[in-house]
Amino acid sequence: MTNHAIGVDIGGTGIKGARVDLASGQLAGERVRIATPQPATPDAIVDVVNRVIERVGGDGPVGLTLPAVIRGNVVRTAANIDPGWIGVNAVDTFAAATGRRIGAVNDADAAGLAEMRYGAGRDRSGVVIMITLGTGIGSAVFVDGNLVPNSELGHLPLRQVDAEDWAAESVRELEDLSWKKWARRLQAYFEMLERLMWPDLIIVGGGVSKKSAKFLHHIDVQTDVVPAELFNDAGIVGAALFAPVTDASTKETTDQ
Ligand code: BGC
Repeated sequence: MTNHAIGVDIGGTGIKGARVDLASGQLAGERVRIATPQPATPDAIVDVVNRVIERVGGDGPVGLTLPAVIRGNVVRTAANIDPGWIGVNAVDTFAAATGRRIGAVNDADAAGLAEMRYGAGRDRSGVVIMITLGTGIGSAVFVDGNLVPNSELGHLPLRQVDAEDWAAESVRELEDLSWKKWARRLQAYFEMLERLMWPDLIIVGGGVSKKSAKFLHHIDVQTDVVPAELFNDAGIVGAALFAPVTDASTKETTDQ
């Protein structure tokens, strides 16, 4: 049977989707991107997701990411998205709007799973933390390859604020920080992660992971810190991994 699924990664600036080959973790068709509507209310997002899926083409189940805690398919937080999402059952909402079987997952958890399966975390056991640096800071925690969902380590307090409000990639841009100055903030953040979690590996993801040569060499911690390997596609590929493709997961989704 087919080993493909559609992944849709819903971010603060763009909604990206593609068909993904789940055996290789490669995109198996055109990568579609439509700007995130503002305000990014549930109705507006659902509309754009429908258009993305249409342009991706084909049928079958869809995995979606949101930059939010999703527990029991329900969105629980809205740090960088419209507060109208809180309390929305993402799976039911997108299933009703698209007529497809849907899986929904936190964006960093999806990207992390993609890296564990196909990228920088392949074959790595122990405690692995993927940190995504973008508008906010996302995290995904793995223990021997198993995801501990919704870890939200970007909201740990650092310098009296949420770490993401001081050290995210968006803050580097906003404050026009040099790579070195920004790396000093990341150094403090990674030191805190070490003190609290004692990971065996930290994977640095998010769009800026493409530019890791500019800042990772300034960071000196006891843990191995490596750049992500799937770059911008990690979210789409990880989303597709959560599409309910098997009979078992289909049942789970429809029973909820
Ligand atoms: C959200 C997380 C998300 C991260 C990256 C944070 O503000 O709370 O759920 O993973 O941003 O998008």
